[in-house]
Amino acid sequence: MLKKQKYNVAIAGATGAVGAEFIALLENRRFPVGELKLLASQKSVGKKLTFSGQEVAVCELTADSFKGIDIALFSAGADRSRQFAPCAVKAGAVVIDNSSAFRMDPHVPLVVPEINPDAAYKHEGIIANPNCTTIIMGVVVWPIHQINRVKHIVVSTYQAVSGAGAKALAELNTQQRDLVEGRKPKPQVFKHVIANNIFSHDSKVMDNGYNQEELKMIHETHKIFQDDGITISPTCVRVPIARAHSESIYMELARVVNLNDIHQVLSRATGVKVVDEPDNNLFPMPLDCSGRDAVLVGRIRRDPSVANAVSLFCCGDQLLKGAALNAVQIAELLI
Ligand SMILES: NC(=O)c1ccc[n+]([C@@H]2O[C@H](COP(=O)([O-])OP(=O)(O)OC[C@H]3O[C@@H](n4cnc5c(N)ncnc54)[C@H](OP(=O)(O)O)[C@@H]3O)[C@@H](O)[C@H]2O)c1
Repeated sequence: MLKKQKYNVAIAGATGAVGAEFIALLENRRFPVGELKLLASQKSVGKKLTFSGQEVAVCELTADSFKGIDIALFSAGADRSRQFAPCAVKAGAVVIDNSSAFRMDPHVPLVVPEINPDAAYKHEGIIANPNCTTIIMGVVVWPIHQINRVKHIVVSTYQAVSGAGAKALAELNTQQRDLVEGRKPKPQVFKHVIANNIFSHDSKVMDNGYNQEELKMIHETHKIFQDDGITISPTCVRVPIARAHSESIYMELARVVNLNDIHQVLSRATGVKVVDEPDNNLFPMPLDCSGRDAVLVGRIRRDPSVANAVSLFCCGDQLLKGAALNAVQIAELLI
């Protein structure tokens, strides 16, 4: 625990998609910020970003950036985290890292405050924020796991382009304009055209046929839930949506499913909002959860052929609960 009136906070990757959310969240959640240091690559030096009505100049992220910093929020990619997070820790800061660099390190807690807040207190300087699709699945599956153990999950994702950063979002906007104005879209950030298209997630496909995003969903869920026994079969897909990931989740539970119990436990769960109105065909949609903290869940139904299986659909803002919000919630646990 850090006990101070105000905390000096650094954001590594302040000019990025997640960085922008960090700045807004620190302000909107009235995090007790003393000094705010905004860090990015050399090309952003001199840019000014606004925090609480004040302009703050962006500085270059270097090994010396962290003197006097209490909390360092990292969202500048795994390579920068590997290089600079240890410098921040050495300077006395606690690092909350959004990248994949340390997630599976046994000395680094992997924390979703709604699931395993206590793990945050066992840090040795670095706390990892899980992968965005993993967090969104986790906050929905965890409450169910508490009342009826989840044994097997089949999950398919519909992932927004901003999950791949600010440039990917700009690429979707450009390609959508190209299509309307009769030009042939040219992919640059992604390998394939994303406008009017979907493709298998853009992370590397490994020897076992699963891409890295899918493997993160498996391994990180095991670590967060502290339960390696849950078998998980993910399919991760990129869709031409600006913001917020959606997930179709099928779960086999230890015992026969009672739908009322599942509705109830999800209605009471922190960070989750049930949106399940079959008469209006109103279920979770990425547009409805963009900019919102809660993960929306609906289409909660029993599998017609498997008595202990339940299916549902959820959407979460991956820039918020999938990244910046989860990290700021971790910082709030520490103070
Ligand atoms: N986007 C999401 O939904 C999401 C969700 C969960 C986790 N994450 C993770 O968060 C991290 C950032 O993602 P993002 O979507 O915000 O990416 P982004 O929009 O591409 O932003 C990347 C940030 O990193 C900075 N950066 C890049 N190279 C750098 C260097 N050599 N030195 C210093 N700073 C450098 C960039 O600064 P410049 O502007 O100066 O280049 C920018 O501020 C990644 O590790 C990603 O995996 C993202």
